[in-house]
Amino acid sequence: MRLSEKMEKALNTQIKEEFESAYLYLSMAAYLKSKKFSGFAKWMEAQMQEELNHAMKLYSYVNERGGRVVLEELKKPQENWNSPQEIFEAAYKHECYISDKINELVHLARDEKDNATESFLQWFVNEQVEEEATTSEIADKLRFIGESKNGLLMLDNTLGQRGAE
Ligand code: FEO
Repeated sequence: MRLSEKMEKALNTQIKEEFESAYLYLSMAAYLKSKKFSGFAKWMEAQMQEELNHAMKLYSYVNERGGRVVLEELKKPQENWNSPQEIFEAAYKHECYISDKINELVHLARDEKDNATESFLQWFVNEQVEEEATTSEIADKLRFIGESKNGLLMLDNTLGQRGAE
């Protein structure tokens, strides 16, 4: 069964959401790099890569189901923040926004009686639980560290160990 037109359009929009997430995280990485937080920046670069993987997963799925991928326009990401804490809080908020989008897609798949898409989307549902948890944990740590330069340097160092997953 080919994707319904409605489902195809919604998945295409999600591809855009994932690219916009990648664009946002790369912008955050660039800001962090400019402030010499190379560990936080590296973490964000890896996060950007994950978002590209999410976009490509959707791209492959739409094609696999006989759909047509049509790319939408990307909006310019924010470029300045006041601190790593503000960045990770924004990243957490963004992940919650993406989770809402994934949930809407699941509901649409149900309405369209598209079991294959509903099942495909479960991977994203689980992924979002993880993404929300990691970003909120880092934001919590940064809140705890506050103005401590030592604490910031230590966390920057720890997050810099993240490899591309
Ligand atoms: Fe692709 Fe971080 O959600």
